[in-house]
Amino acid sequence: MKIGEKIREIIETEIQHKAVLAKDGPYSAKVIAICSQKGGVGKTTTAINLASALAQHHNQKTLLLDLDPQGHVEKSLSSIIEEGLDYSPLSDIMLAKKGDLLEGVVRTKLEALHITPGDNSLYQTEGMLTAKIGREFILNHALKKARSEYQTIIIDCPPNLGNLTVNALCAADHIIIPCEMSVLAFEGVSDLLDTVETVKEKLNPKLKVLGVLFTRVDRRNVSMNKMVKDAMRQQFKGDVFQSEIHINTDLNRAQLNGYPIHQEAPRSSGALSYKKLADEVMGRLDKNKTQRGRALKKKKQTKN
Ligand SMILES: Nc1ncnc2c1ncn2[C@@H]1O[C@H](COP(=O)(O)OP(=O)(O)O)[C@@H](O)[C@H]1O
Ligand SMILES: [Mg+2]
Repeated sequence: MKIGEKIREIIETEIQHKAVLAKDGPYSAKVIAICSQKGGVGKTTTAINLASALAQHHNQKTLLLDLDPQGHVEKSLSSIIEEGLDYSPLSDIMLAKKGDLLEGVVRTKLEALHITPGDNSLYQTEGMLTAKIGREFILNHALKKARSEYQTIIIDCPPNLGNLTVNALCAADHIIIPCEMSVLAFEGVSDLLDTVETVKEKLNPKLKVLGVLFTRVDRRNVSMNKMVKDAMRQQFKGDVFQSEIHINTDLNRAQLNGYPIHQEAPRSSGALSYKKLADEVMGRLDKNKTQRGRALKKKKQTKN
């Protein structure tokens, strides 16, 4: 083959490859941010085990995105991540002119679950975003293609309300707020909900609270649990999930061994609770879809 023909063939293959990449996928993902400005409340534990329960029990094609520079998602799922795959660091994608999150995706041994690992350089990204115009919407733009490739996208947020978390809230359709059983937790959830209201008003009107989730519940602290739960239910009513996550050492072990709880200890209380949470999340998403459909129909009827 002459060299000119060879070059033409290479260029044509490249064009075809780009056309495949540019094509939209079949889905329209719901994006759920797992968010709390406090560390150690169970955000990562919830993100990894909810994402894997949705993939495993509900066959949802799921992307789990780690926005926390500590990179705990990758460490917590180290045993199921496919090795030898090339991917771009999330910090580069966030700072690129037209970053595409699909370039940061890694497959796992669970067919329906992919992850985008967080990386240490996200600490610098957090500061560098401040100087960017439209900084709140960078993740939202980077997720454009990914939304059509997945049914659910779960974002594990850093433990603060900085630029990265605001990016998650601007890209999300829903937020789940993990809350542990302490008096201060109530204040934390209230503060976060104020931020959610501001983001809704000014930046992302479609953002909705999917639920407040009680985490790390120690059954022995009967009166403290009752106090926190009563206060939360009085204030946030139906927004509080029925499912709650009790203290369960199998969850620690699973994280240490790098497996989702459903693979490490499928009969443990942690696995059952996160499966129940996944069922409840799917129910709430379906209910939302029906309500939105009805509202649209009503709007159309009043127009006619
Ligand atoms: N229900 C639980 N039972 C026992 N340990 C838990 C539970 N939830 C979280 N943990 C442990 O608590 C620590 C902090 O949890 P993590 O999910 O990393 O919190 P965050 O992401 O909010 O900082 C981890 O070591 C994790 O294994
Ligand atoms: Mg975490």
